[in-house]
Amino acid sequence: MLGQTRNLALVVRIRRMLKSLSIVVLVAATAACGGAKTSGTKPTVVADPASAFGPLQEGADYQTYTKMSKAPFASPTHGGRDVEIWVNAAGVEAYKKGEPSPAGTIIVKSSTEKADDGSTIPGPLFVMSKKDKDWSYALYWEKPSAKWIKQLGGPVYWRTPSPKAAYCVECHENYDNELGGVPEEARAW
Ligand code: HEC
Repeated sequence: MLGQTRNLALVVRIRRMLKSLSIVVLVAATAACGGAKTSGTKPTVVADPASAFGPLQEGADYQTYTKMSKAPFASPTHGGRDVEIWVNAAGVEAYKKGEPSPAGTIIVKSSTEKADDGSTIPGPLFVMSKKDKDWSYALYWEKPSAKWIKQLGGPVYWRTPSPKAAYCVECHENYDNELGGVPEEARAW
């Protein structure tokens, strides 16, 4: 099913197409009036407020949720970090049973990674929340590690509908109920 992100990405793409179309029309119009041809017109950057950093909204209280993993386990799909999974009260039963999560479910995956000096430092928080029938995704990292800071440019809070959170959907939509689940040997239940 097409998620909200997909739809938004489409809208953005259509907007971009329309924009470049109007540039073409503009150039054609100037040329027709004998004006000089404009060259090297760059497409305008589309503003993406859903990737602006700010305090974490949904999932900020994750430490009050039920921890579904009995100990940190390695997640190759989330940067090879050690992760733990937390589910709020609304979602616990369905998560355990592998059933579709009810509206109101929030799932947070906390993570840690190893710094160059071997110490363990906090990694990003991965958040999934289901308000209605679609999941929203977020990646929140207040203090990216030295390894990542250059690439990320500072703290990050990418969330649906930002195109930066689209890769979460692309992978998660391959799983039942869009959930990867806790590996059996790491389950707390
Ligand atoms: C390449 C595939 C892939 C990508 C990309 C990915 N995930 Fe996951 N995700 C998984 C798998 C597999 C699991 C379960 C096993 C694990 O945690 O390693 C999982 C588990 C989770 C969970 C715990 C709930 C559950 O059971 O699914 C959350 C929350 C989560 N991911 C959020 C995110 C967010 C947010 C992003 C994007 C920033 C993201 N994921 C990107 C594959 C992916």
